[in-house]
Amino acid sequence: MAEKKLSLQTAAEEDAEFICKMMLNKEYQKHYLERLLHKSVEEAKIKIRESERDAKKGKGFFFIVLLGKKKIGVLDIYKINSKDKRASIGYGIMNEEWGKGLGTKICALGVKYAKNNLKLHTLEATADPNNEASRKVLEKNGFVLLGTVKDYYFDRGKYTDRDLYWKVLE
Ligand SMILES: CC(C)(COP(=O)(O)OP(=O)(O)OC[C@H]1O[C@@H](n2cnc3c(N)ncnc32)[C@H](O)[C@@H]1OP(=O)(O)O)[C@@H](O)C(=O)NCCC(=O)NCCS
Repeated sequence: MAEKKLSLQTAAEEDAEFICKMMLNKEYQKHYLERLLHKSVEEAKIKIRESERDAKKGKGFFFIVLLGKKKIGVLDIYKINSKDKRASIGYGIMNEEWGKGLGTKICALGVKYAKNNLKLHTLEATADPNNEASRKVLEKNGFVLLGTVKDYYFDRGKYTDRDLYWKVLE
């Protein structure tokens, strides 16, 4: 049987239920910033509408990841800096699909989109130092670890460190 194709689709309000369901998973939430979680369908719709406004201004792009026709995750290209042609990238997939190599492929799709469609020159990514899967996804996509930044985010009432990764899109 032919392998199902991974693709990106701009997130729309009708995706709110899927995103919310994926993000309510406790394992998913462990390494995800609280501010990025869509905890209810209503909150997801508000965040999706925000992302549509950001996309119009060229500030960021929020995608649903499809495997064939099935929604399996999200990919975010945000903090776009058009002067330096730089952005940040983030991703997440539903818990049932972890460990099958999909995270690595989704990150590769995002890198390709940033380079070919957005014409960016560099990408930045942060990973929780304890999130081995996410660190590996970045390293397998050629991101270089710049170091661990102390107190990078203020999340859930305390400062938390992040491994800061960098990739030049040559
Ligand atoms: C991070 C995430 C996208 C990884 O997706 P995935 O499809 O499981 O990743 P892959 O299958 O491509 O695996 C990448 C590497 O990590 C390893 N890995 C996967 N899960 C792991 C785990 N729980 N612990 C340690 N290593 C793990 C894989 O073995 C693979 O390494 P290898 O090629 O050397 O064997 C997924 O875990 C996720 O959605 N997590 C919740 C959201 C999140 O943390 N997002 C990142 C923050 S921006």
